Amino acid sequence: MGRKLLTEHIDLPGIDTFDGYRRQGGYASVEKALKEMTPEAVVEEVKKSGLRGRGGAGFPAGMKWSFLAKPEGKPRYLVCNADESEPGTFKDRHLMTRLPHLLIEGMITSSYALGARTSYIYVRGEMMGVIHILERAIGEAYAKGFLGKNILGTDYSLDLYVHPGGGAYICGEETALLESLEGKRGNPRNKPPFPAVSGLYACPTVVNNVETIAAVPWIVNNTGDEYAKIGIGRSTGTKLISACGHVNQPGIYEIELGVPVEEFLYSDEYCGGIRGGKKLKAVVAGGSSVPILPAHLILTTAKGEPRLMSYESLSDGGFQTGTMLGSGGFIALDQDSCIVRNTWNFTRFYHHESCGQCSPCREGTGWMEKVLHRIEHGHGHLRDIDLLVDVAKKIEGNTICPLGDAAAWPVASAIRHFRDEFEWHVKHPQEATRKGAAYRNEEVLV
Ligand SMILES: Cc1cc2nc3c(=O)[nH]c(=O)nc-3n(C[C@H](O)[C@H](O)[C@H](O)COP(=O)(O)O)c2cc1C
Repeated sequence: MGRKLLTEHIDLPGIDTFDGYRRQGGYASVEKALKEMTPEAVVEEVKKSGLRGRGGAGFPAGMKWSFLAKPEGKPRYLVCNADESEPGTFKDRHLMTRLPHLLIEGMITSSYALGARTSYIYVRGEMMGVIHILERAIGEAYAKGFLGKNILGTDYSLDLYVHPGGGAYICGEETALLESLEGKRGNPRNKPPFPAVSGLYACPTVVNNVETIAAVPWIVNNTGDEYAKIGIGRSTGTKLISACGHVNQPGIYEIELGVPVEEFLYSDEYCGGIRGGKKLKAVVAGGSSVPILPAHLILTTAKGEPRLMSYESLSDGGFQTGTMLGSGGFIALDQDSCIVRNTWNFTRFYHHESCGQCSPCREGTGWMEKVLHRIEHGHGHLRDIDLLVDVAKKIEGNTICPLGDAAAWPVASAIRHFRDEFEWHVKHPQEATRKGAAYRNEEVLV
């Protein structure tokens, strides 16, 4: 059994209340940080832990914190990114629903470290249930003296607000989120300046994912060095993985980074194998944005080494033969899945969610959706496949924010690894459009 740093107590009745959470040692990191540590010492522990951002990019949290511009009389803000809208990723809502006080504890300890006196949790607008849970829990924390003026009798004060999001995937991109929080349309900003210099209301701001902030209490309580001993290499600690698709046991698993992908997929502790005893065809390992990999490449790297659930191992081989851990949305596709349909479905999402600021993304996602629709529905041409590769290339790297990349990678990788399936759709339109029909190449199934 792997260690659980975040979810050890998640199934205890009453753990979502202040008293229940406190009985399990909750809020100890706030007491320790505020009474025994300087803010700089807290930042130092987070740096030592090697904790990397859990929102997708995997940027080291301590390093991001240390970039925050020095206080010059301006307020500084911590903003928690709880927008969670990536298809396949559904871990943050679980954490917030079941352990709201863990996030609040992390927000208080982290805000203290960063010198923030006002902090925000920006929650995806559709998750009204989560918003109510957080607001109730925040009310409890105020009533018990863990939020508000002079927390625990110290001279540190903090106000914490929950802000419902704009109901758009783009509002998860950190600068679009800040625009939205300021009451504007959620359009990503040009960078630089980065939020650490000019973020919310043009003040120094750190934006971190829910899971990143939730890891801070354990680090402060147990030290960064202890955290760094868990996991593998530069992938320290644990990670929440939301597993879905054709597995026997879909759900949210806290894994120690470094678990072999094969173990994650097939052992009863995690996904429990592929549904109906079928073969595995492909996996999207880190949420819809990351490159899809065929079964043999998700289980073993191109060098023949077992692939591990870690930042480094999943990206081994670059985009030619590797992928990314991303936000931990693990989607398994069995032998009967249609890669063209899956790619079209993802692309429809990105087209719908493009904010429209940058032409390559605004136009390109639409073109890709149209071309994929026609291939999937039996009206495609062979030249369409190269057209898709070309459009994806022209979007990638040419937009203000990475939504463009997120839209291009699934298309480019699907064609890279499953070109024969796209060609089959073009050459056998009647067969390809028959309900339940799926292209089958035994060589890629495991
Ligand atoms: C289109 C788009 C959507 C994103 N959605 C989210 C999201 O829902 N939650 C999140 O934490 N990060 C999301 N990100 C990443 C954020 O921009 C940012 O990197 C992250 O919140 C930083 O936190 P971390 O360092 O703790 O991971 C998104 C990025 C893009 C480009």
